[in-house]
Amino acid sequence: MKKIIVFTGAGISAESGIKTFRDNDGLWENYNIEEVATPEAWIKNPKLVLKFYNERRKQVLKAKPNKAHLDLVKLENKYDTYIITQNIDDLHERAGSSKILHLHGEILKSRSTFNNSTYNIEGTKLNFGDLCENKSQLRPDIVWFGEAVPNMIKAEELCNDADILIIIGTSLSVYPAANILDYVPANCEKYIVDPNKTESLSDKNITLIQKKASTGIPILAKILSQKDSISQ
Ligand code: APR
Repeated sequence: MKKIIVFTGAGISAESGIKTFRDNDGLWENYNIEEVATPEAWIKNPKLVLKFYNERRKQVLKAKPNKAHLDLVKLENKYDTYIITQNIDDLHERAGSSKILHLHGEILKSRSTFNNSTYNIEGTKLNFGDLCENKSQLRPDIVWFGEAVPNMIKAEELCNDADILIIIGTSLSVYPAANILDYVPANCEKYIVDPNKTESLSDKNITLIQKKASTGIPILAKILSQKDSISQ
């Protein structure tokens, strides 16, 4: 069975009504990113940070997986499929994908500021004064700007023997996640699904499908099955 890595970003959840990051003039849902998504912000104003992520959590819980999330699940019938996502929502999980690695954390979890243990958040809110078992404040389980990305090591390992890499809905502007293209073998087939990518991709091995995720993924699935039938 061929191994597929699907690397997703905010664009795949756009059709579920969750805004992307870089289509909004540096503002994220009307907040300045530095004031809500950095370790400095957490030290300066934890209540604002918690409020911001409480709003994001509410929004995620209202959203539903869209056709793109659901179509990715079907790949599992034919391929050993791994989703590596930069998204903090749980839409891949709710769609039914079985192997998912979150690089930038998960909005529905909290994390201990004492020892990094994570917990499911009951309901929508994480409050100032909510403590872990060790009596330390709980923070959102989010990798903020300027923080290390611990799951990048696992991502690199998963990519090492990939046959196919599919990149969907990411500007590839945040590192180290954007290094994903360097981790797959040289002979790995590479595809990008994004309606706004226009630049000629310097690596000629990358096939660009210039469509929204919901229309691009079926096109891609067709290309893959045509290739499979030729090689059989
Ligand atoms: N289908 C596919 N792609 C889309 C769609 C769609 N319907 N709508 C928009 N896009 C594309 C945009 O063209 C853009 O290339 O999705 C991409 C979104 O890019 P960003 O907003 O930069 O999001 P992302 O790449 O996921 O950001 C990476 O940055 O803010 C941090 O930690 C946060 O995980 C996030 C990281």
